[in-house]
This record gives sequence, structure tokens and C-alpha cells, in this order.
Amino acid sequence: MSSSTSQATDDSTGQSALQTTENRHSEGGSHILNTWNADENSFQESFFQIAARGVHKKYHKGANEIPVLQGVDIEIREGEFLAIVGQSGCGKSTLLHLMGTLDRPDAGEIYLADNRIDNLPASARDRLRNETFGLIFQFYHLLPELNALGNVLLPLMIRHGFFGYLRNRRDFRKRAKALLDKVRLSHRLRHKPRELSGGEMQRTAIARALINQPRVLLADEPTGNLDRVAGQEIIEILRNLNASENLTIVMVTHDEKIAQQADRTVRLVEGRIE
Ligand SMILES: Nc1ncnc2c1ncn2[C@@H]1O[C@H](COP(=O)(O)OP(=O)(O)O)[C@@H](O)[C@H]1O
Ligand SMILES: [Mg+2]
Repeated sequence: MSSSTSQATDDSTGQSALQTTENRHSEGGSHILNTWNADENSFQESFFQIAARGVHKKYHKGANEIPVLQGVDIEIREGEFLAIVGQSGCGKSTLLHLMGTLDRPDAGEIYLADNRIDNLPASARDRLRNETFGLIFQFYHLLPELNALGNVLLPLMIRHGFFGYLRNRRDFRKRAKALLDKVRLSHRLRHKPRELSGGEMQRTAIARALINQPRVLLADEPTGNLDRVAGQEIIEILRNLNASENLTIVMVTHDEKIAQQADRTVRLVEGRIE
């Protein structure tokens, strides 16, 4: 974007695109795609909540180009728990970041229901990450100076602003405590990240990811830094969320045993979904 005028124009487009997104949410948030099925000689309906179409991404390292994603096509249904597996370095994090609008593809598109989201202006993408997507990472990314409760409350402060937060403080704290209870951390509300175990940090990060009631949870190697037992606890929490709230979960992992516990597994090989 070259001038502030075009930024402003794009921003308003982004806002209206988001508006449509929210309207779709109340209708279930799925896009119906009619695809022609030649065998059955009829249109077949398929529903998706998030999709990548022909996505390419490469990085530049000095003079070298590193091609990472080379035409990724994938559709994820509402309420699905999908695992994307692949070897270290194959582009799993890259793909997840593109789906979560943390980065933009070089070519191709990302859709949320029937709205293209990869080309939205930065402010609209920020809002999507705050309100629509919940993100969890291998290294938790908690703020070290805030305790568990403060970390979980942070996305609410970002969403509602300081005064909006203050006005609703009681309700928000109740909601944050309920979520920390759900991930079995009621006894750790005032602990700072350095006073928590790895599993407890990841459970805090899950509560933080859920505080704004996202429609999709994107999880990047959520058990990658945990031992078997703590990792299994995280997977069980994710499975429960998926079953009880119909939360769509996209999890990337290099660990086949972890991936097997999702409803469906796809493989990222040589920059494409197999
Ligand atoms: N910002 C970057 N600049 C240059 N190369 C990168 C960057 N991010 C990732 N890569 C490279 O892209 C490839 C895919 O990375 P990544 O998506 O993190 O893989 P995975 O999550 O599957 O391990 C790797 O070879 C990695 O080194
Ligand atoms: Mg990765």
C-alpha cells in the first residue's frame, strides 16, 4: 500500500469483509461449496470453515530462495479436529501462520467461510487473530511479567480497550477463572510463567486462546516441548474442547502418535498436501 488514502480505502473494505464474516458466524460459519461430481452427474455440497487454495510461500535467505509451500490446497470443516503432519522444516508452521493471518502467501488464497482473509488490511487481520482465531504455540509465548490470570485476560484488554476492560472487569475475571478451571489451573491463578511447569504454561496458553471465544483454534506443535504425560493431557483438553464446544482445531505436529488422536490427518510433503 503506497499512500494513506489507499490504506483508508482498503481498511473500510476490510471492515465490511469482517462484517460479512460475523454474519456468516450466526448462520453456522460454514461456506457451502457446490462442486460438480461427474460420476454422480450432480452437484455435491461440501462445507468448509477454513480453506487454503493454491498457496505458495517462499523465503529469501541472502541471494537464495527457499521454496516452502508450493501449491497447498486444503479444506477444514467446522467442528473438525485436523492434524497436519510432516517432517521438521517442511513448512507446517508456515502454513499455520498463513491460515491464522500472521503472514501472507506469495500466491493463492486463504478463506474463512466464504470470505477471503489473506488480503485483508493489517487492522482487520489483527481483529481476526484476536476474535476469530485462537493460537497456541510450542513455546507458549506467555508474557513473563503477568501471572496466569493476567495472561488469560490480556486478549480481552486488547479487544475492549482499557476502559472497556475496566467496565466489565468482574465478568471478564469470572470468565478467565472459569477457563483456567477448565484446564485445571484454579490453584495456579497467581503464578507467573516461570513458576509453572511446561504443561501448566501450555494450559494457560489454551485458556488465553479461548478467552475471546474463537471459532478456530490453530495449534503449532502444542506438545512439542512436553513429556508424554503432559503432552497427552494437552491433547485430551483439545479433544474435549472439540467435542463439547464443536471447536474447529487445526494442529500441526511432526509426532505421528499425537497426530493419530485427531479426527483426520493430512501430510505436508514437498510443499503440498498429499
Ligand atoms: N523467516 C524465515 N526466513 C527464512 N527461512 C525460513 C523462515 N521461516 C522458516 N524458514 C524456512 O522454511 C522452512 C519451513 O519452516 P517451518 O514452516 O518453520 O517448518 P516446520 O514448522 O514444518 O518445521 C524451513 O526450511 C525453515 O528453515
Ligand atoms: Mg514448526
